[in-house]
Amino acid sequence: MAPGIREFAEVEVPEQRIEVSKSSKLDASKPLNQNEYNKGGREEMNGWSDKTSAAGKNSNTTDDDDETPVFTMPSMHKLREAQRRVERDFRSDTVTVPTVNMIQAMIESSFQDDMYDATGDESVNRLQQRLIELTGKEAAMWALSGTMGNQICLRTHLTQPPHTVLLDYRAHVHCWETGAMPVMSQASVTQVHPKNGLHLTVDDVKKHIIADGNIHFPPTRVVSLENSLSGTILPLKDAKEISEFVRNFPVEEGEKPIAMHLDGARLFDAVAAEGVDLKDYCACFDSISICLAKGLGAPMGSVIVGSKKFIHRARLFRKMFGGGTRQPGMMAAAALSALEYTMPLLPKVHALTKRTADTLRQAGYKISLPVQTNMIVLDLEEVGIPPAAFVAYAKRAGVTVFPTGRLVFHHQITPEAAARLVEAMRLLMEDKKAGKQLENHKVTGGYM
Ligand SMILES: Cc1ncc(COP(=O)(O)O)c(C=O)c1O
Repeated sequence: MAPGIREFAEVEVPEQRIEVSKSSKLDASKPLNQNEYNKGGREEMNGWSDKTSAAGKNSNTTDDDDETPVFTMPSMHKLREAQRRVERDFRSDTVTVPTVNMIQAMIESSFQDDMYDATGDESVNRLQQRLIELTGKEAAMWALSGTMGNQICLRTHLTQPPHTVLLDYRAHVHCWETGAMPVMSQASVTQVHPKNGLHLTVDDVKKHIIADGNIHFPPTRVVSLENSLSGTILPLKDAKEISEFVRNFPVEEGEKPIAMHLDGARLFDAVAAEGVDLKDYCACFDSISICLAKGLGAPMGSVIVGSKKFIHRARLFRKMFGGGTRQPGMMAAAALSALEYTMPLLPKVHALTKRTADTLRQAGYKISLPVQTNMIVLDLEEVGIPPAAFVAYAKRAGVTVFPTGRLVFHHQITPEAAARLVEAMRLLMEDKKAGKQLENHKVTGGYM
């Protein structure tokens, strides 16, 4: 049973003593399985287990291990504080902080110059190789952010204006990337409202694609899809149908076929939730940008994948856009660790999201989109709740939310934090129904 919000306000998280031994290494080669996670393995995954602390030695270490200190006491406390803060932060899955395993991986990474050294950086190469294995594409390239990954891909496809990109009217590449596309690629967009209200289908694409030959219209050169989009899935069946149609769409002589791009910032969430094969999904696209710092929980970075020829050309645009980095090995190593430890946790994150959504519905909330992965999009306007009150009630319960009503779950959100959120929202709904005056000032911050 979840405690009431007023009790919550008084809950004090007891300070735990952590003793950090000189040899506090974790076994980074050992992923958590679902049972360990269920038994409270989340703590271990975040690095706070008895094994790493009180006993003074990790059970995986031996007397022969190097005794060089890895974590100091203040650094462990700082990290733990950060983890406690984000376990109640529902603004985005970008807010996660590194686990001890990730930091250990950073310490053990390579430190080569990814631009000057002839073969690049070893950890970056390992990360790229891992993405090649997972996606089934020929080549991969590290990029600093999801925005950079998307815009490099689009720029690499779009060689000669006039040209246009067909996309969902809510697409991140169009709405949330500071107007990059017309600047970087001189491209206009064809915004499509999905007929089914959820995701684009081949019929939407057929209706809006622009062929060569009409002097008034810039021809479609890229179809850019997004999966997941606001937490909803673009099913494999639809991706396949769109891909088949687009790749066979007639173009003028000498033109390349229309390219298929995927903003796969949260592709692993979508594929895990739909239960389809990642390689099958990726086969529908010529380029994909995958974020490492969203649901996967790495501190930063994205990887784009495509053909060898495509990635070879994309490297030039990465440098041009200021994304040629020097010692990115530490970040690549953290991302590799994130892939290993966080990916198996996604179903658990989705299950908690769905349970929370059900409880919010029972409390009288309306949810705008199907809850299929790690997001709940509340329609606050529909139930007459002002954004300021939404933020204020959550804050009083020790929970952080954006005023938009979008709630995002990630691997560091605890069930206890979800219970706090639900209680705060119940109280808000009760107060609204009782006619209580709710906060209604203009709220700014975040992405509003
Ligand atoms: C769907 C989608 N694509 C791309 C991005 C861009 O990622 P970044 O913030 O790393 O630039 C985001 C960021 O939230 C996103 O949600």
